[in-house]
Amino acid sequence: MLRTYAETHLLSAASARPAASDKEGGDSGDEEGSDSEAAPDDVVAWEAGLRATLGGARQTLKAAVPYGAVAEKLHRPPATSALFDPSVPSYDVDTFLFPDDEDVDALCDSGLVSRTFCAKCGSTETKPTQLISHSFSEEQLCFLASALLYPCAVAAAKAPVADGRPFRVVDVGSRLGVVLLAAHETALLARDVLGEEGARRTVTVTGVELNGPFCDVARKMLQRSVAAADRRHGNVPLVVTADILGDVGRQWLRDADFVVMNNVFEWFLPPAEQADAWAVVKKETLLSSGRSTTKDPKFLMAYPSLEETLGGVFAATDGKGTATDAAVAKFLSGWVERVPVDVDRWLAARRPPGGHSHDDGHSCSSSCGGGDSADSERAHTTELLQSMCLYRVVGHVPKV
Ligand SMILES: C[S@@+](CC[C@H](N)C(=O)[O-])C[C@H]1O[C@@H](n2cnc3c(N)ncnc32)[C@H](O)[C@@H]1O
Repeated sequence: MLRTYAETHLLSAASARPAASDKEGGDSGDEEGSDSEAAPDDVVAWEAGLRATLGGARQTLKAAVPYGAVAEKLHRPPATSALFDPSVPSYDVDTFLFPDDEDVDALCDSGLVSRTFCAKCGSTETKPTQLISHSFSEEQLCFLASALLYPCAVAAAKAPVADGRPFRVVDVGSRLGVVLLAAHETALLARDVLGEEGARRTVTVTGVELNGPFCDVARKMLQRSVAAADRRHGNVPLVVTADILGDVGRQWLRDADFVVMNNVFEWFLPPAEQADAWAVVKKETLLSSGRSTTKDPKFLMAYPSLEETLGGVFAATDGKGTATDAAVAKFLSGWVERVPVDVDRWLAARRPPGGHSHDDGHSCSSSCGGGDSADSERAHTTELLQSMCLYRVVGHVPKV
């Protein structure tokens, strides 16, 4: 059944907006899916609008939070992490706010960031520093929106639940609010595509963030970025200042239908506490899944994959520093199952064969001379998107 869901809604919708038949639809048999698809151009065109909205939000956020303006306590991952080398200096450079080389150059020119450090004092030998981002990039947000969330939101909106509650998207650790904005736009797209009659369940978007100043910034950005009509109707993502591990946060984990987790604990808790935090996430997301039927599934999007994150956590806490695949498999068993997503297909719909695209979103053939760097950029992007993993919660704990 899971495979069928993935094939009909994720593998196909990853590259295409639903067909007009979805709009007329009325059927709630989402597991069967539709055999026709709208042109991939439709969803790519929609993404152009999303990118424009995100671009506006970037300007608002850059003005509101200059580099390093919000203080936070970070826990650098231990040496066991594949993602980080504690012996190499690092800088926190938000990839959403500073997406291009020129942005990083400007930070370097201001003396806030350095790309290199002297590995051997007195010599001319230098090595690259590490630039760490605590936000998704624009590309990742588009992928999350159109390839992962959109098919789930459409399926949910077409198959309303008996108690009429909305399909709730919850970004755990919502920081600057950019996931919330992308999810809000996705909810509007789902509503537009399905039409008033087809969209029989609303989609709501909420962020739960520990850091109060980030919540304030996100609320202001969202008020400014969300269309006036939505603002008038109070249709603006909610930002809740709370610890996801506290009572309020746990309730959101239970109520959520689509949970987004981007590196929530990796940089914000010491490894020993991360294992306990993940146990809470597992327990609370399972608690609500007693309602789980094929028509009312619950999803978790994790970046990096749960396998990678938990492998690192268990390796750092088992005292031996070894990744423990069996322990990870045991932890995931009875909780979540991975939903396959075709990243290559999604990218192919956005990059012409033999061509490549530039940071500003335009595409051209390899004859412009940017081919080699575009190839490595594409390989990097593919890797990043493949690490954005979608899971379906499969446990069956009675509803609370
Ligand atoms: C890597 S950032 C993700 C930002 C955003 N969701 C995105 O994808 O662009 C992780 C965020 O989680 C927040 N966070 C860490 N621990 C948390 C907790 N226990 N409860 C709520 N938020 C938490 C941090 O303050 C940080 O803003």
